Amino acid sequence: MTKFRILAALTSALASALILATPLAFAASQKNIVVIGATAQSAPEIIKQALEQGRKVIALARRPEAVTSAGHPNLKIIKGDVREPATIESALKGDEVVISLIGPRVDPRVELAAMDLYTVGTANIAAAMKKKGNKKLIVTSSIGAEHVVTEKPKGTELRDMWLWNGRKLYADMSAMEKMMPGLGLQYIILRPGFMLDQPAANNIKIAVDNTAPKGAGPIVTFVDFANFTLTQVDSDQYNSKAVSIFSDVQSEWGKNLDFDAMLKMRQSQGPMENGPAAANK
Ligand SMILES: NC(=O)c1ccc[n+]([C@@H]2O[C@H](COP(=O)([O-])OP(=O)(O)OC[C@H]3O[C@@H](n4cnc5c(N)ncnc54)[C@H](OP(=O)(O)O)[C@@H]3O)[C@@H](O)[C@H]2O)c1
Repeated sequence: MTKFRILAALTSALASALILATPLAFAASQKNIVVIGATAQSAPEIIKQALEQGRKVIALARRPEAVTSAGHPNLKIIKGDVREPATIESALKGDEVVISLIGPRVDPRVELAAMDLYTVGTANIAAAMKKKGNKKLIVTSSIGAEHVVTEKPKGTELRDMWLWNGRKLYADMSAMEKMMPGLGLQYIILRPGFMLDQPAANNIKIAVDNTAPKGAGPIVTFVDFANFTLTQVDSDQYNSKAVSIFSDVQSEWGKNLDFDAMLKMRQSQGPMENGPAAANK
């Protein structure tokens, strides 16, 4: 074999090794995730995209039978409740990034009672993570949590009434946001606008901390939200930040937002949680 042929063979072997090694290296840089509140409307897309990316996913849900992508070999579904710390601990191995999608099942046509799901649930998640060794927590809050409404709006537009009727819910989200720096974890707070089940629009805009422009169109798709959320799993770019997620598409009740359909869907999942039990808190 000539020197040239030996060199060519070595180069070709090296190229093959690199081609083989590249997908492995890519997969290795991706972290596995635990999705808490895995029956949330936003969960199916996060779970689906994460599995497509080759991640292992652990899904914690109060209604495990309703978790999507069931049967996938990289998906483990666990029945749990963030008010029951042992169930959270049972879902964590210790090296996953935890994504919390928890939110109460409420009917915002009536004034909501005081809430503590976000604060109590997140404190329980953080305690379980520290016990098991998990380092990074991504929580979802909402656009609107940065300026909780304190005066009843004069108009009766549903959006204004929502912010008013749900002000104690937003106050709980806001209190959770304030808790985050003291939890001793890496964290990112995601504040999505209204999310819709539509094809990817690739139109997400973000604003860090309280810099979302007033009047920003809050509509984003679940697909784009999932994509953004999973990017944050492996990135430290927004660690310790609150990130508002919106677009140029304005929300219009009765047009791109169907309140009745949203309410019907939530009612079909179980009893509303803004009733007497919540009112006693
Ligand atoms: N969807 C939007 O347009 C929007 C807009 C702004 C902000 N957000 C926020 O973003 C997050 C995700 O939104 P989403 O609409 O996908 O959520 P969602 O459909 O309201 O679902 C909330 C999830 O939290 C779970 N949950 C409630 N209490 C729990 C508990 N004690 N233990 C364990 N799980 C519990 C629910 O379980 P069940 O299925 O058993 O009820 C459900 O899986 C929420 O915090 C929401 O408030 C959503």
